[in-house]
Amino acid sequence: MTQPSKQRTIIVSGATGYFGRYLIEDLAQIYHVVALTRDPAKSATMFSNPNVTCVEYDLYDHEKSAARLKKVCQDFDVWGLVNNAYDFSEKTGFNTPSGRIENISIDAMRAGLESGVLGPMVAAQTVGLAMVEKKIPGSIINISSMYGSVAPDRRLYDGKKVLNPVTYGVAKTAINGLTRYLSSFWGEYGIRCNSVAPGTFPNVETNSFNAPKDDEFTVRLKNKTTLDRVGHPRDLLGMIRLLLSDESSYITGQILNVDGGWTAI
Ligand SMILES: NC(=O)c1ccc[n+]([C@@H]2O[C@H](COP(=O)([O-])OP(=O)(O)OC[C@H]3O[C@@H](n4cnc5c(N)ncnc54)[C@H](OP(=O)(O)O)[C@@H]3O)[C@@H](O)[C@H]2O)c1
Repeated sequence: MTQPSKQRTIIVSGATGYFGRYLIEDLAQIYHVVALTRDPAKSATMFSNPNVTCVEYDLYDHEKSAARLKKVCQDFDVWGLVNNAYDFSEKTGFNTPSGRIENISIDAMRAGLESGVLGPMVAAQTVGLAMVEKKIPGSIINISSMYGSVAPDRRLYDGKKVLNPVTYGVAKTAINGLTRYLSSFWGEYGIRCNSVAPGTFPNVETNSFNAPKDDEFTVRLKNKTTLDRVGHPRDLLGMIRLLLSDESSYITGQILNVDGGWTAI
């Protein structure tokens, strides 16, 4: 079986975010990694590893992003894409009452779908086509969410400022559809596509929109898992390594939960 190698390039979006940093630091030990980010200067400071190449990326500028990804695929042999970026902000309805179904605007709905579905779809289309042309049996991973399979429990948010908006689960459900579609239509080229669906991973390390800074809320989240704890990005690394490697050569079209048992009960 072929071993992972630095001759193989893996593209990861959302480079400087909570998951992105851990994913890239881990993957750069065995692959060449292209880190997609809105801020290549910040990303270059974060990743001093020479196996990391930082490239500018915008989930909302599809033409520019497609052109940049096409160039990456010309310059390197891309064996994997991890669609990890997502716009957690008020623009997509996070942590604001305007993200609720009663209030959400068309603009916020559109932003949720652009960021959560169209951006990753354009990336998968561009990178997947290059894999087909170069005859590379690569692996595409869409970072979904357990909220692509179950809805957020409304009781979690009682009396809280944090809110998971309606667009999020809709976008993550849609990306699971993309996973199955790509698995079907590009299976004949040996290209595999899977969703990884994390459970609850509140950011406990940096200031972000995804960091509740509310211990009581974190306890509510923890109590919804069978392992009695929230996740840390390190909990995802094994699954991502597996899906990018030849060890998972017969796994495709799947939605793989990494959720501490949240969706088991
Ligand atoms: N944390 C959780 O609890 C959790 C649970 C389930 C699923 N997920 C999924 O896991 C993925 C990563 O989440 P995370 O917790 O790491 O979130 P995060 O810390 O907010 O990181 C997301 C990253 O996406 C990139 N991004 C945001 N807006 C962008 C835009 N307009 N164009 C290009 N890139 C943009 C940014 O990277 P740059 O700053 O480098 O541009 C940002 O740091 C997401 O797909 C999320 O839905 C997270």
